[in-house]
Amino acid sequence: MERIDKLLSHEGYGSRKDIKKLLRNYEVLLNGKQIFDPATQIDISKDTLCIDGEIVDFHTEIYLMMNKIQHTISSNKDGEHQTVFDLLSDDFKTPYLQDKLHLVGRLDMDTEGLLIFTTDGELTHKLISPKSNIGKTYFVSLEKEFSEEEKQNVEQLFQEGIAVGPEDNEQGFICKPAQVSWPNKEVCDSICKNSSYDSSKIKTAALLTITEGKYHQVKRMFKAVNNKVEFLKRIKFGKLELDNLLKPGEYKILTNEEINTIF
Ligand code: URA
Repeated sequence: MERIDKLLSHEGYGSRKDIKKLLRNYEVLLNGKQIFDPATQIDISKDTLCIDGEIVDFHTEIYLMMNKIQHTISSNKDGEHQTVFDLLSDDFKTPYLQDKLHLVGRLDMDTEGLLIFTTDGELTHKLISPKSNIGKTYFVSLEKEFSEEEKQNVEQLFQEGIAVGPEDNEQGFICKPAQVSWPNKEVCDSICKNSSYDSSKIKTAALLTITEGKYHQVKRMFKAVNNKVEFLKRIKFGKLELDNLLKPGEYKILTNEEINTIF
């Protein structure tokens, strides 16, 4: 249930003050009964609202999962490069959605994988708040090979919280504990199948789960252990896994149930 003034304001009927006036000056019927109070509660899944004889078609929240393609920007505006929003069909480019549809976090230009779009600001806040502690899992292909001993060392350093150096205008910081594992060939092949990366090039691959999302974090973590990320793909957000049928640049609509699997 939501207040009518909030809902109508989200639908583009103006400010809450405008909605108050609208209720005074127009015939607004809730399930056939005229209402005047801006605090009236509405259940958009059940109630019918009519303004001057026209039924209001309320938008429910939208959730999309994209397999981000490399060389796209995680932003809705960029003069130079293609953005991930450019890849969406016109259905998602209405004036209403242009204002409301946004990304839950970002991926670097050269990173592929799971990107979530939504109109649900509350969900976004819960997912990206520094307190959220939600794990994001990345598949990483590294430039240099790690020995077994080095792998164990990296596991321990990441688990303890590794210090990463400054980058561009960002200061260095100590990462929260992170888990790293070393996927076998079968797992690597399956993750690289719908990606731009050829798994036969892999020297060392890692699966890294972090609960933060600082600037270039994964790249900086591997730099701190004297390696370099060659290819990066996000494969999981909380418990929500990237649909491995999605090719780079493709997306699908998620149900509320699917989105709830994140937590
Ligand atoms: N860490 C990075 O370094 N880049 C990303 O795109 C995401 C996490």
